[in-house]
Amino acid sequence: MIYLDNAATTPLTPSVIDAMTEIMANDFGNPSSIHGIGRHANQRLRSYRQTIASALKTDPRRIIFTSGATESNNTAIKGYALANQAKGKHIITTSIEHHSVLHTMEYLEKRFGFEITYLKPENNHISAKQVADALRDDTILVSTMFANNETGDLLPVKEIGELLQDHQAAFHVDAVQAMGKIDVYPEEIKADFLSASAHKFHGPKGVGILYSTPQHFDNLLHGGEQEEKRRASTENMIGIAGMAQALSDAVANKDANYKHVQDLRQTFLDAISGLDYYINGSQNKMPHVLNIGFPNKNNGILLTQLDLAGIAVSTGSACTAGTVDPSHVLASLYGEDSPRLTESIRVSFSELNTIEEVQELAKKLKEIVGK
Ligand SMILES: Cc1ncc(COP(=O)(O)O)c(C=O)c1O
Repeated sequence: MIYLDNAATTPLTPSVIDAMTEIMANDFGNPSSIHGIGRHANQRLRSYRQTIASALKTDPRRIIFTSGATESNNTAIKGYALANQAKGKHIITTSIEHHSVLHTMEYLEKRFGFEITYLKPENNHISAKQVADALRDDTILVSTMFANNETGDLLPVKEIGELLQDHQAAFHVDAVQAMGKIDVYPEEIKADFLSASAHKFHGPKGVGILYSTPQHFDNLLHGGEQEEKRRASTENMIGIAGMAQALSDAVANKDANYKHVQDLRQTFLDAISGLDYYINGSQNKMPHVLNIGFPNKNNGILLTQLDLAGIAVSTGSACTAGTVDPSHVLASLYGEDSPRLTESIRVSFSELNTIEEVQELAKKLKEIVGK
């Protein structure tokens, strides 16, 4: 099988598997226990938190371990909005966010009467000016992604963080698709909250982080006093061990990995140069996601034929890929009726892919599309 759906999830690398099996075998302690076994686990937890904090160039106290970006996004958005509604009930986000953001916003809208402004891409991208124009005195939160999971498009998070310096609104950034691939420094982009999931950078599923400045937000989970009382439940030590290893590997190899992924993408595009295709989204994007359409070719059929040929790609985000829902991201970019919604596939690369694999994809696509 050739796996080219790395924006959905990535395989574990041997060093991550080693880090996880090592702690599974040797360290079962609960980091909240007072005795030696617990203190030892707590020391490890502290060192994992330091590793993550160093990768983000921040203070370890700002790192909260969660069960993944869905929980991080829910905590930042619901937790902050509910705790700060006395300051206003207006939130700004974009129409191209992941469902873990969009459905959380809908919940706040329907259940608590928040007013949400959904910015739509203009000329294929979201600009900081759109955020500036949408800001109101009662805006309490702006939530945008760092890079889009379906198109790889980068959002102007640094500019947005800058413009919010003069405003009461807190800034939440969903950095899932950027973390471990490019520089993600929450303090540099002036984010108050930032979410990430380990399994997008070769860590395990079901573990992630929420970066948080000392903001007041309502907890999602109530229980023990873990994570400095910000997230109850015994920490997922095995997952966190894997995530810390994955992130330190990613950071150590970031430039080489980025270049390799760029080469994969270019090799693939060169190899299909004879085909009629278009690329969705803006010019300013992460190289690891390629959303590509073939006029008059149905993406569901393409996906199935590639799958039969042993090549895994997708038609959108993993959550919608299992259903027939058209992509809300492509609909926002090109309109609900655009043929791009039924013609486009997402090919997403990682540094583990080889030039031969993308050449094979190009060969198969030429056979299928060329027919
Ligand atoms: C941009 C983005 N945000 C959030 C998530 C949710 O991550 P998880 O399913 O690991 O909670 C994803 C996963 O696809 C994503 O791509």
